[in-house]
Amino acid sequence: MKQKRICLCKNYTLLSVLLRVESIREFEVGGDNIMNNPWKDISLSDYERHMALDSVQQLQAMNQMMKGQLNQYDIQSAMILGIAGGNGLEHVDTEKLNKVYGVDINQEYLTITKKRYENISDTLECLCVDLISEAEKLPQVDMLIANLLIEYIGYECFKKVVTVTKPIYVSCIIQINVDDSFVSDSPYLHAFDGLETVHHQMAEQELQNSMNEIDYQLIQMLEHQLPNGKKLVQLDFYKKQ
Ligand SMILES: C[S@@+](CC[C@H](N)C(=O)[O-])C[C@H]1O[C@@H](n2cnc3c(N)ncnc32)[C@H](O)[C@@H]1O
Repeated sequence: MKQKRICLCKNYTLLSVLLRVESIREFEVGGDNIMNNPWKDISLSDYERHMALDSVQQLQAMNQMMKGQLNQYDIQSAMILGIAGGNGLEHVDTEKLNKVYGVDINQEYLTITKKRYENISDTLECLCVDLISEAEKLPQVDMLIANLLIEYIGYECFKKVVTVTKPIYVSCIIQINVDDSFVSDSPYLHAFDGLETVHHQMAEQELQNSMNEIDYQLIQMLEHQLPNGKKLVQLDFYKKQ
């Protein structure tokens, strides 16, 4: 009897491992995945409340960093990958930029972003695209901005996005953790439970190496210390001629 129970347990363990491997495989292939990308199930209010917490303070930091990203370089068009609720779009200067694309996998985020920034509707175009499986749908732009996004698509997919969109400048913000967790402790933590399946750990040097492989050179690196022992690192790249 005892032996039977053990066998049953083993079978269940094996089954759950197989199901997990299968679902990860389905997810990686992209397209009509059985397993949905977890970002589609996270409400924008949970995400923004978490990011704005005093202990996290990332919404405020990212807002100011985006101001610099949008205005430092001589560009006419930009694409913001993983735009979520459009934090920082108030810094779009429509005299300078004639097109800004906001890209995200979550259509609800994009609907809210469009509504929030109706004042720049002639310039802002929102595209619901899964960067993992649909990168080839993206148009070309002068500058690509990817803030806390490469973590969720990985270096290889990001290189593909850069190759398709052919930007002159690429500006990325990645989060470097000093502890093990990539999501800071907060009352909204449960909302991010599913993210582990798609999260990639970032490192400045690895990102730099990936970009060098596709002929982009680092031109600027900025650091922003966060209150919870994490830091945001902005890396800007320029296409070698
Ligand atoms: C951590 S949030 C960053 C949001 C914003 N850039 C910021 O700095 O606050 C990641 C964003 O990327 C989007 N995202 C994640 N995976 C994606 C994918 N495969 N394709 C397109 N967007 C994706 C999520 O929906 C989310 O809005």
